[in-house]
Amino acid sequence: MSDKIELGNASDFHVHLRDGAMMELVAPTVREGGVSLAYIMPNLVPPITTIERVNEYKAALQKAAPETTFWMTFYLSRDLTPELVEKAAKEKAIRGIKCYPAGVTTNSSAGVDPNDFSDFYPIFEVMEKYGLVLNLHGEKPSTKIANDTDNHDDSEDIHVLNAEPKFLPALFKLHQDFPKLKIVLEHCTTKAAIEAIDEINASRNPQDPITVAASITAHHLYLTIDSWAGNPINFCKPVAKLPSDKRALVDAAVSGKPYFFFGSDSAPHPLSGKARHVGVCAGVYTQSHSLSYLAEVFDQKNALDKLKGFVSDFGNAFYGVKKEDLKSQQQVVLVKKETTVPELIGEGELVVAPFMPGEKLSWGFEW
Ligand code: NCD
Ligand code: DOR
Ligand code: ZN
Ligand code: ZN
Repeated sequence: MSDKIELGNASDFHVHLRDGAMMELVAPTVREGGVSLAYIMPNLVPPITTIERVNEYKAALQKAAPETTFWMTFYLSRDLTPELVEKAAKEKAIRGIKCYPAGVTTNSSAGVDPNDFSDFYPIFEVMEKYGLVLNLHGEKPSTKIANDTDNHDDSEDIHVLNAEPKFLPALFKLHQDFPKLKIVLEHCTTKAAIEAIDEINASRNPQDPITVAASITAHHLYLTIDSWAGNPINFCKPVAKLPSDKRALVDAAVSGKPYFFFGSDSAPHPLSGKARHVGVCAGVYTQSHSLSYLAEVFDQKNALDKLKGFVSDFGNAFYGVKKEDLKSQQQVVLVKKETTVPELIGEGELVVAPFMPGEKLSWGFEW
């Protein structure tokens, strides 16, 4: 493999850029990480559920990062109506809707009950019709454990390690009920999730378009349980799982299968939200070095030739990104050059610890 690799127009299909001062700090780092298009998560406070707020937020992002393309989403909640979703789809104000099960992660208290999506079926019908993507945070909320243990069925317990596998039946049912609805199982963390996505795609007629895909983060290609037990910088939802799960994620990322693509889930929190002993914030910030983290892993697997598919071709094809949608047509070229991840980004009151602070990475890039 040569020391320069053209990666095309890279897209990150799962990005948290927040608002206010944090947004000012991190929005420019999408491009610093090598990415042209960022697909923006709607979990602000309050969650984004109107076209006005989408447009306002997009304008603010655009001002902070003029060369970056932002694709926006709604937050699935009872504030949405099929009429509103139809209007937002027609105006291309949004490209998808993020579904958070209530209570599983940052600002998800307004989310939905994953045991029963039926109230939202009229919205899914509209989404299917207009090609909007349903972005699933695929975790069941953990069981509240009562102390009366009589007649308890252990197999029903839900906790951070099995929350994703326990969600998978809900994914199969959604796909069965809406076979043409585009669904992304976001930030996969388990071998079981990878197998589920493989299984669904194995039963697809190869001539038919992909409707069920999965995004994979950079940090989950590195982390396992041991990495976050005791290190709040590496704590995120869904939590990183077993070594066998991590191997399955790496294999999926480098597989060249077009239904696995990049979504960083870069989720910055102020250092004060990490450096505390109660209520540590979930989220790993990777935006400023996103392609470098990925290149390191692909290189170790001798699979740098598969990186362009993962970061550009597959996600862009699934979402229907066209060249003319992009604010900047510049393409990114991976180059062999060592960079050191800073210990912190930002200054003064607002600092964020990036993933792998102080560590060396062997690939950077040029535009
Ligand atoms: C977290 C959040 O809501 O983003 N808290 C915080 O940032 N103040 C909570 C969480 O990460 O679960
Ligand atoms: O770790 C996470 N952080 N997971 C999410 O789903 C949300 C995110 C955030 O917004 O901080
Ligand atoms: Zn999520
Ligand atoms: Zn997220």
